[in-house]
Amino acid sequence: MAFPRGFYWGGATAANQFEGGWNEGGKGDSVADHLTAGTVSSPREFHNQLHPGANYPSHEAVDFYHHYKEDIALMAEMGFRMFRLSINWTRIFPNGDEEEPNREGIEFYRSVFEELKKYHIEPLVTISHYETPYGLMCDYDGWANRKTIDYYMNYVKVLFHEYQGLVKYWLTFNEINSLQMGVGDILAGGLRTKDGPLPGFGASADQKLLQKRYQALHHQFIASAKAVILAHEQYPEYQVGCMVAGGCTYPYTCNPDDVLKAQKDMRMNWYCGDVQARGAYPYFAQSMWDEMGITINQEEGDAETLKAGVVDFYSLSYYMSTCASTDPKVLAAGGNLVFGAKNPYLKASDWGWQIDPKGMRYLLNELYARYQKPIMIVENGLGAVDELIDGQVHDPYRIDYLREHIQQLELAIKDGVDVIAYLPWGCIDLISISTGEMKKRYGFVYVDKNNDGSGTLNRYRKDSFYWFKKVIATNGEDLK
Ligand code: BG6
Repeated sequence: MAFPRGFYWGGATAANQFEGGWNEGGKGDSVADHLTAGTVSSPREFHNQLHPGANYPSHEAVDFYHHYKEDIALMAEMGFRMFRLSINWTRIFPNGDEEEPNREGIEFYRSVFEELKKYHIEPLVTISHYETPYGLMCDYDGWANRKTIDYYMNYVKVLFHEYQGLVKYWLTFNEINSLQMGVGDILAGGLRTKDGPLPGFGASADQKLLQKRYQALHHQFIASAKAVILAHEQYPEYQVGCMVAGGCTYPYTCNPDDVLKAQKDMRMNWYCGDVQARGAYPYFAQSMWDEMGITINQEEGDAETLKAGVVDFYSLSYYMSTCASTDPKVLAAGGNLVFGAKNPYLKASDWGWQIDPKGMRYLLNELYARYQKPIMIVENGLGAVDELIDGQVHDPYRIDYLREHIQQLELAIKDGVDVIAYLPWGCIDLISISTGEMKKRYGFVYVDKNNDGSGTLNRYRKDSFYWFKKVIATNGEDLK
């Protein structure tokens, strides 16, 4: 049997896309609360001042805030052994820089963790998943400011102290490399200009932005390392991991230029991974900074902090692969973080994300060869349009996608890769981060909610729900 006993089967979510209750229980605004709904053709907008009547999907999301007991019971029915969720920083520190935390926020998550414990479901908690406090953006320029490390550590101290005995596994930052790709400017970085948020919601090669992004990322590396150090010193039962958006890039042709480009593109894994899982910037960092014309301001003691703050395990999201080509005539493929040339051997989702289960096996092998740490897959899945008819959703396309990925995961484990968890994304339907849509669904459970915000919020089991339940019950043996 390829899957070890105790393998963590489960699912994953993030508060800003799942939880709702955005202004209840003393919660402050996160940057996500200022983003409108959108579609592929009409991108989400960031509003400094909220507009009455505009649709901000994080405000209600699918209302886990009021449905958590029902949702956790559904997870338990599927047999989940682990559930990844994020804590909304602004539920604990509404502006981000208060001295005292918000008790009501702390108690909300305590109730969630106690509910999970009832069913023996292990929580995996993302400390920061695109929920930077809006107050830190406005007052400090988010992660561009070194002071934000202190505010993050105040938050981490509260979480580590309050949830002893309830939580064991932590992730310091979701997709920490999103900042490198520009798409994380607002959500992950909380970065702004003098007059408001940075222009555009997508990547930009603006020199000033590059400098700011990479400096912000350095601050996140220090913050992550400090959280690991705190856990190791005071909470030895805790396991702290990094979370990196997995990039799998093949050369489009055997033209050495394409091969070199693919090798360079794969650095989207190594730049952050090396710092967090090896404790130092990679050998190519300086040449990369020189090429971009940026300088990272590192303070005395930073190198030692990074060295001492090496994570216990590595985690990643994996959805798709891409190709590297130096030929501008080669067509581009879609994605939310990962972009590149289209691969003629692969099919794509309705959103243009190339489906590549074997790419996951390839990437897992590369990661394990480099880091030799236990790996969790904490996001994977197919964003698709589902139809609810008479209370049922037939989603064979999702089952096919997941089956093929689990088969490759099994092969990766047979290769010798130490994978300990597989947590498909959006296990209960939630809001898409890139487009702000509801129409793009990942879940085993359908939530009656529409793009315009209407819907009963009732939950329905999809066909994939029963299929995944069987997969878990047989520890991955029965994938039919
Ligand atoms: C990852 C994020 O990039 O991809 C999630 O960590 C996100 O927050 C997921 O939801 C899927 O992307 P999307 O754009 O389809 O929601």
